[in-house]
Amino acid sequence: MVNKKSIGVFDSGYGGLTVFKSIAEQLPEYNYIYLGDNARSPYGDHSFETVYNYTLECVEWLFAQGCPLVILACNTASAKALRTIQQKILPVKYPNHRVLGVIRPTAEVVGLYTASNTIGVMGTRGTVNSDSYPIEIHKFYPELEVIQQSCPMWVPLIENNEHLKEGADYFVKEYVDALLAKAPAIDAILLACTHYPLLIPKIQALLPEGFKLIAQGDIVAESLVKYLSNHPEIESTLTKEAEKRFFTSGDYLVFDRNASIFFDEPVSSQQINLKK
Ligand code: DGL
Repeated sequence: MVNKKSIGVFDSGYGGLTVFKSIAEQLPEYNYIYLGDNARSPYGDHSFETVYNYTLECVEWLFAQGCPLVILACNTASAKALRTIQQKILPVKYPNHRVLGVIRPTAEVVGLYTASNTIGVMGTRGTVNSDSYPIEIHKFYPELEVIQQSCPMWVPLIENNEHLKEGADYFVKEYVDALLAKAPAIDAILLACTHYPLLIPKIQALLPEGFKLIAQGDIVAESLVKYLSNHPEIESTLTKEAEKRFFTSGDYLVFDRNASIFFDEPVSSQQINLKK
């Protein structure tokens, strides 16, 4: 098994499936291993140290399964753990492995979606409080107004598959209204949490015509296409048997049921035990 070299895709739970779906559509030939840390999700309100420890444990688990490249398909983990893993862990322990996040590729293109030069960013408390998006976006678009809103109830609704029911309406409206009240000029919203695209029908219904809702799946997939073509030393090591394997730290039967809905195809996962 470990002789096969897969691309690892990691999220705290189901959200990363929205990114994995786009990646597998654009790059169907590779082998993939998806890991959802559902047992410890949501990550959004955990401390920096906890998110870092959980993320590193999951990344190292994916390395041990034969993934030379891991995508953190999670903004919270990208905001709180990516830099330390890239700068302190990889050079010392895993010089031939790579870990990529979702914030930078998103920040690079986000300015293309707004005509008013004012963009809303909705994310977990962890992502919003880290200020990673304003910092990264301003590297590419120094003049862009970035207005943030944390949405702490959205991931729990999605992890419990309650997000399309009527009860979710209240919390969807609460955060969308709060964001728009901060800056009426906003004409595009970045869904800066990989879970949030599952709420698109409800969010869209609250927005005026012509408003742009930006999901990260295709953006991250396109950036991975470019990364692989620029890094033949990684690309050439990857197995191309179009195999997808799924793992969860939570209950695998619950994962299979929910992930099949979120991923739009049958999912059969294995349960793993994470220690920390
Ligand atoms: N999908 C994760 C993200 O993009 C969700 C974080 C959470 O577990 O709260 O931020």
